[in-house]
Amino acid sequence: MDATYARRGKTAAVRPGTTLKVGVDLGTASIVVVVLDENDTPLTWEMEEASVIRDGLVVDFAGAGAIVRRLKGRIEEHLGAELRSAAIAVPPGTGVRDCATHGYVVESAGLEVTSVLDEPTAANAVLGIRDGAIVDIGGGTTGIAVFSEGAVSAVFDEPTGGTHVSLVIAGNRKIPFPDAERLKQDPRMHRELLPLVTPVLQKMASIVSGCVKGHDVKVLYLVGGTCCLEGMERVIERETGIPAFKPAHPFLVTPLGIAMNCGSR
Ligand SMILES: Nc1ncnc2c1ncn2[C@@H]1O[C@H](COP(=O)(O)OP(=O)(O)OP(=O)(O)O)[C@@H](O)[C@H]1O
Ligand SMILES: [Mg+2]
Repeated sequence: MDATYARRGKTAAVRPGTTLKVGVDLGTASIVVVVLDENDTPLTWEMEEASVIRDGLVVDFAGAGAIVRRLKGRIEEHLGAELRSAAIAVPPGTGVRDCATHGYVVESAGLEVTSVLDEPTAANAVLGIRDGAIVDIGGGTTGIAVFSEGAVSAVFDEPTGGTHVSLVIAGNRKIPFPDAERLKQDPRMHRELLPLVTPVLQKMASIVSGCVKGHDVKVLYLVGGTCCLEGMERVIERETGIPAFKPAHPFLVTPLGIAMNCGSR
């Protein structure tokens, strides 16, 4: 994760003939494009905050396409090479037509879509867990995928995420939402903000508890941007009573996993 994180906006020399593995993550809060070489070595990545997807559905087709095209253009400059194809991921349970719309967004930016994964499977390409649950707390939604013996055995999608955290900060500090977002994303503020946002995190934890009940989940793996909040894993752990772990840079797990799956159908 650290090696990938360090490559944001970086240039890299690409030998002619190298197969580039490209992952495009269309999220509610942000769009991320990650590029790996054929050995899964991270080359570069770019992201933009966006509100073109809501609850996993494309709500601004042209806007989403324009962002992907812009990110693709920036990455092509970093690499001096053209990106031709990409993998994408959708929340589990996304209908066939909505999956197709995700694909069309990426194709409208000039990339052929070679694989459409579901998000927990993409995340697990990085984490490689056999048993436990991956909890993906994004901007607007929390996706929970239970893994048993390496396969997804149950999935849940709940309407809670980082937006709720920011709303609480905005209300408490009497500041506009975008200012609350900025404050929240400043790691120096995390210690001070944690007590304030703990009730929201406890609510998320109780949602997780409700979902995994009866599924014999012994460990939680936290991914998604909201899990960047320092110390949040301890709140989740305390409330659910299940040990919770998070990798470095949890918002990058799914985009990286999508890129790792590029090319495999
Ligand atoms: N450093 C940070 N500290 C705290 N929160 C952060 C940080 N970085 C991002 N976030 C929050 O993470 C959320 C976005 O996470 P992520 O990029 O995983 O979501 P998404 O995939 O776009 O959305 P969704 O999964 O809901 O479709 C936003 O609410 C954002 O404010
Ligand atoms: Mg997401």
